[in-house]
Amino acid sequence: MSPYALTRTLAEDATGAALRADVLHGLSSTPKTLPPKWFYDARGSDLFDEITTLPEYYPTRAEREILLARAPEIAAATGARTLVELGSGSSDKTRHLLDSFTQLTHYVPVDVSESALRGAAKLLLAEHPSLAVHALVADFTRTLALPATPGPRLVAFLGGTIGNLLPEERAAFLDSVRALLTPGDFFLLGTDLVKDEATLVAAYDDAAGVTAAFDKNVLSVVNRELGADFDLDAFRHVAVWDAEREWIEMRLRSAVALAVKIPALDLAVTFAAGEELRTEVSAKFRREGVRSELGAAGLEPVQWWTDTEGRFALSLSTVPST
Ligand code: AVJ
Repeated sequence: MSPYALTRTLAEDATGAALRADVLHGLSSTPKTLPPKWFYDARGSDLFDEITTLPEYYPTRAEREILLARAPEIAAATGARTLVELGSGSSDKTRHLLDSFTQLTHYVPVDVSESALRGAAKLLLAEHPSLAVHALVADFTRTLALPATPGPRLVAFLGGTIGNLLPEERAAFLDSVRALLTPGDFFLLGTDLVKDEATLVAAYDDAAGVTAAFDKNVLSVVNRELGADFDLDAFRHVAVWDAEREWIEMRLRSAVALAVKIPALDLAVTFAAGEELRTEVSAKFRREGVRSELGAAGLEPVQWWTDTEGRFALSLSTVPST
């Protein structure tokens, strides 16, 4: 069998069409919004990698601590022969698992970025030459068709990225994960946890201004891809903790009244002085909330692990064999 295969279920032009639809809808809404998935062009991905090294941004380190400590338990509990990783990006987190997953024969990274998949597969195969890697270019918020690989399957969604989905989107996403699994398969989910406001706000508004640059990068993406004329200097990055909904919101606040043209959409948008554009929601979770959201999708909790400081959680769930 070939050690590397790639399947594309996303049309080459799907990204452009989706960006146009999202920008048209989001900038015509009140309040204005843009979905966080558009942060991640090459520069945005580099800025995100830099965020993960900042002193204030604890989630990546906390999750890595759990993965390294619990990989043998996860391998033993699941007996996984196939690992499916949704939103795999650089597959960095996966490397913490693979050394312990001695029974694993197949790795299926799923990402919208073909270049990220190719780069990650190359690195992984160098370290694990006998692993069959079947990369899937796909949007994990859409229906996925997984390649036929041996079970049990472990589907992993790490990094706390589930927090970037709104509650209704989360429910739909978990339903689609459930639909990928058969009894005996498992789901490994990374969730950032509710904690004090100062820690949370600092993680999304760091002193060095990297998160501010990351936030504004979405405007650069719209400028480049849709010919818009957003003046990045007119906007200030804001991170707000919504204590009721238990999520961080990142926003871009226009300091002055602005008119922005978006030629590819034939659209003109105005901002009042002080008006905010919501660019990201990053929900924080509690154990009970995770349990009930998994339960609503038909997933049964098996294990819950946190880092020693209790900042981040990994949860393992399964499909009960009725
Ligand atoms: C790791 C993608 C979930 O919400 O914490 C980091 C992205 N946004 N800083 C998060 C992010 C601002 C991030 N995810």
